[in-house]
Amino acid sequence: MATQLDLASRLQQLSALLSEHRQLWVPRPLTDRPAFDRSGLPWERTLPSLAHYLLTLGENEVDRLKHGGCPEAAAPALLHDLVECTQRLSALPRLPRRRQHFSSRVAFGVPLRKWQQVEAFVETVAANVNAARTETWIDWCGGKGHLARALAVQQRAVVVEQQFDLARSAVMLGRRADVDVAAVAGDVRHAPLWLGEQLGACALHACGELGDALLRCAVASDLPLLALAPCCPHRVADERHRPLSQAGQGHDPQLERVALRLVGFAEVAAPRRIRRRRRRETLYRVAFDLLWRETRGEDRYRTLPPVPVAWVREPFADFAGQLAKWQQIDLPRLSASRCARLLERAKQRVDQAEALGVVRALFRRPIEVYLALDRAAFVEQAGMETAVGTFCPAVVTPRNIMLLGHR
Ligand SMILES: C[S@@+](CC[C@H](N)C(=O)[O-])C[C@H]1O[C@@H](n2cnc3c(N)ncnc32)[C@H](O)[C@@H]1O
Repeated sequence: MATQLDLASRLQQLSALLSEHRQLWVPRPLTDRPAFDRSGLPWERTLPSLAHYLLTLGENEVDRLKHGGCPEAAAPALLHDLVECTQRLSALPRLPRRRQHFSSRVAFGVPLRKWQQVEAFVETVAANVNAARTETWIDWCGGKGHLARALAVQQRAVVVEQQFDLARSAVMLGRRADVDVAAVAGDVRHAPLWLGEQLGACALHACGELGDALLRCAVASDLPLLALAPCCPHRVADERHRPLSQAGQGHDPQLERVALRLVGFAEVAAPRRIRRRRRRETLYRVAFDLLWRETRGEDRYRTLPPVPVAWVREPFADFAGQLAKWQQIDLPRLSASRCARLLERAKQRVDQAEALGVVRALFRRPIEVYLALDRAAFVEQAGMETAVGTFCPAVVTPRNIMLLGHR
C-alpha cells in the first residue's frame, strides 16, 4: 500500500485556503445574519456582487450548487475560482476494492444503505491491506456488528460497543449468520487493554473523538492494521479542533466546533416527506427566532433546543406557545395576521440563507478532508504506512472517507 498523497503539503494548502476565506465559512447565514437591519453578513459588504448574484438564484440552482454543481458562465469569477479551488484541494483518490461474496445471512437485517457501506468498507480493506496478518478484527463502536459480521466471513471479529443491547444483538446476528463474532459491551476509550499484535481495528462511522481514540490506541500499541471511516467531527469535548499530527499543528486553520458541524450538513437526499417536514420545522424555528428577537429588542440568535416532531404539525401559534412555555420565555399573544407575517418573513430569511449558504457549503469538504489528512499524518508519523481516499460514492454516504494504516 503506497502513500497516495503528500500529506504535509496538502494540509498546508488546505489550511491556507481555510484561513484565507475564513469570513466566508465561519458566519452561519441563518443564525448570524442580522434580522432587523440590511447590513447582512460581513462578507456581503466586502463582496457585494457575489452576494447579489447568489441572492438572485432560484431554489433549484442553489440546490445544484450546494451539491457540487459548476456555476453557470454568468456567475462572478470569484465563485468559479472558489469552486475550482475547494474541489481541487479536497479531491481524494477512490481506493480500490476487491469484490467479495457475502451470503444473505450476513446481510440479514441491515438497511440497504448501511449494507452498501459495509460491503464497500470490507472490499476496500481487502484490496488495500494484507488482512491475513490479523487473526481478529476489532469492530470499534460496532453497534449491531454489521461490519464485524462481514469481516468475520474471513476472520474472527470482536465488536466493542457501549450499549449492551447492541452488543448482544451483534453476537446473536453473528450466530444467525454462522460466523465468529464476539462482543464486549464497554467503552472503547478503555480499549488499550484489548489491542494487541494479532489484531486489526476497523471503525465504520465512529463519531468524533472516538475515532481519534482508535488512532491513539493504534499508535500506542503497535497495532498492525487499521481502517477508519470517521464521522460527526463536532462530537468532541474541546471547543476547538486540536490537530493530532505535527504537520496539522504546523498548519492549523483554527476550526471551532461550530465549523466542524458544517461537515455533517452534507446529506444524502432525504425522501420528499422528510424534506417537507424539515422545511416546515426550519420555518417555524426561524419565525420563532424573529419573534423572540423582536420581543427582546436584541438582534442576536439564541440557541433553541430540538423540539418534539409533534409540535411541528401544529399551527405556528401553538408551536410558539409550547416552545415559549418550555423555555420559560414571556411572549406576546399571537394574532393570526402576526403569525402569517412572521412566517412570510421567515420564508424570505430561509431562502436568503440557503442562497448565501452556497459559499459556506463549498468549504464543507475541505474541512472534512483536512481532518482526515491530519489523522493520516498522525498515524504516518508513528511509522505506519497510510492511504486516504473514498471507499464508496457519496450517494451511499457523504461520510465516505477512509483512512487505512498498516505496518
Ligand atoms: C454511528 S454508530 C456506528 C455503529 C456501527 N459502526 C455502524 O456503522 O453501524 C456509533 C456507535 O458507537 C457507539 N458508541 C458511542 N460511544 C461509545 C463508546 N465510548 N464506546 C463504545 N461504543 C460507543 C454507539 O452506541 C453507536 O452504536
